[in-house]
Amino acid sequence: MSSEPLSSQKYFIETWGCQMNELDTQRMAGQLMQQGILPTDDPTEASVILLNSCSVREKAAQKAYSRLGIYRRYKEKRPELLIGFCGCVAQQEGEKALRRVPDLDFVVGPARVGELTDILARSRSGERVAATGFPEDRDFDLDTISRESSYKGMVTLIEGCNKKCTFCIVPYTRGPERCRPLAHIVEEVRHLLRLGFVEIELLGQTVNHWREPGESDLDFADLLDTVASLPGLQRLRFITSYPRDFSPRMVAQVGKHQNICPYIHLPVQSGSNRVLKLMGRGYEVESYYDLVDQLRAVRSGLALSTDLIVGFPGETEADHQLTLDLVERVRYAQIFAFKYSPRPGTPAPRLKVEIPSDEVASRRLQEIFRLQESIQLELNRELVGEEHELLVTGWGKTADSQQGRTTCHRIVHFDPQGVPVPLGSTVRVRIDEALQHSLRGSRIDQPAHPAEPAPPRGLRVVG
Ligand code: SAH
Ligand code: F3S
Repeated sequence: MSSEPLSSQKYFIETWGCQMNELDTQRMAGQLMQQGILPTDDPTEASVILLNSCSVREKAAQKAYSRLGIYRRYKEKRPELLIGFCGCVAQQEGEKALRRVPDLDFVVGPARVGELTDILARSRSGERVAATGFPEDRDFDLDTISRESSYKGMVTLIEGCNKKCTFCIVPYTRGPERCRPLAHIVEEVRHLLRLGFVEIELLGQTVNHWREPGESDLDFADLLDTVASLPGLQRLRFITSYPRDFSPRMVAQVGKHQNICPYIHLPVQSGSNRVLKLMGRGYEVESYYDLVDQLRAVRSGLALSTDLIVGFPGETEADHQLTLDLVERVRYAQIFAFKYSPRPGTPAPRLKVEIPSDEVASRRLQEIFRLQESIQLELNRELVGEEHELLVTGWGKTADSQQGRTTCHRIVHFDPQGVPVPLGSTVRVRIDEALQHSLRGSRIDQPAHPAEPAPPRGLRVVG
């Protein structure tokens, strides 16, 4: 039980995993800040510590318990400290976590994030709460988000996932798919634009599977059209698109609205139809290639990224070669490749096929990375000499360096020429040099404004 007034308390949140987790962290931070509890980077001075965990890969539960083991020791010096276990591992572990970690105060699953204020109040009065599962009447509760930046805002379209990819834990930890009504989405985007946000990222595990709830036949194509038309929206992104759900109407919207960023994350997982079938992905690689061609036909300079799983049960050397062929053919700007990791309760570990050894999977992964590195450098080199608009996203270590992102999501380092550019504004640069993971450019617009003081780092906007 805490004796400190709430207004002098601080919180610390450790976040793993995907954008949805990042947004959940911002939602929990918003609720804490509404109570006057402020963020700290130092967990030893926090009165509330939250571990927002991810269970997509590796030894997630083991890792989470070891982190909680460290945090509980802080209670020796701060007995009033409350420790909360959140995210996908917390959903899976539930009450078990309370039994296993005696100093753990509460457990919150991803679908219960909006209840944090209430859970904290119950914890403060000594109750140990396990809030997991997927209540039917849960709300999106998006009105108290402590945004990490003042120019880029993430907006939820769909929670959960109804697909049944045989390797994936997400449908079990984030529950069944639930779409948010268009009117609420538009209201939130408008609100962010009024606050001066310039980039909006629409989120969902299968974001392009969005449908208006109820009787309406509005789909993601209509949503893109509506949101991209909102005045003041400079950059619109969305993640993650499910290849099979990308319809020609959606492709047309990508061609129609130039403020939809020419960078699309399109997870393919494998280049082999046999493996895609074992994964239960519901598409074949030929239709994926067709979609890539359609998208490239409507937007020049379109950059694509993907996720790949290597060493999936049943993956042969020939299947692996097909994945390398795919990487070669699509020429992705970025790849997120992972070794297959069996997830408890998912069907893939029970497939009656041979599982490639860890050694084989590691070697295949390295082959993919090596191929991708050369492609990525080639693609980056093709940008040299081009002019690009950058959204300025960071301060460099020295005064002669800042960084920003192109619309195609490349990181570009540039010299602000003595006039620091406020984060969230745009500058034009010419690309001078290509590196493996970033580019260097020089400003070609005139610094228009006198030097403004840099806003404090970690500035948060509650919106
Ligand atoms: N909704 C997204 C994926 C969410 S999980 C989609 O449609 O693809 C993010 C990525 O983690 C997946 O794309 C996959 O490449 C990887 N992943 C998920 N489960 C995995 C597992 N069991 N082993 C290895 N990688 C996995
Ligand atoms: Fe997972 Fe497949 Fe859904 S990868 S999140 S089950 S689309």
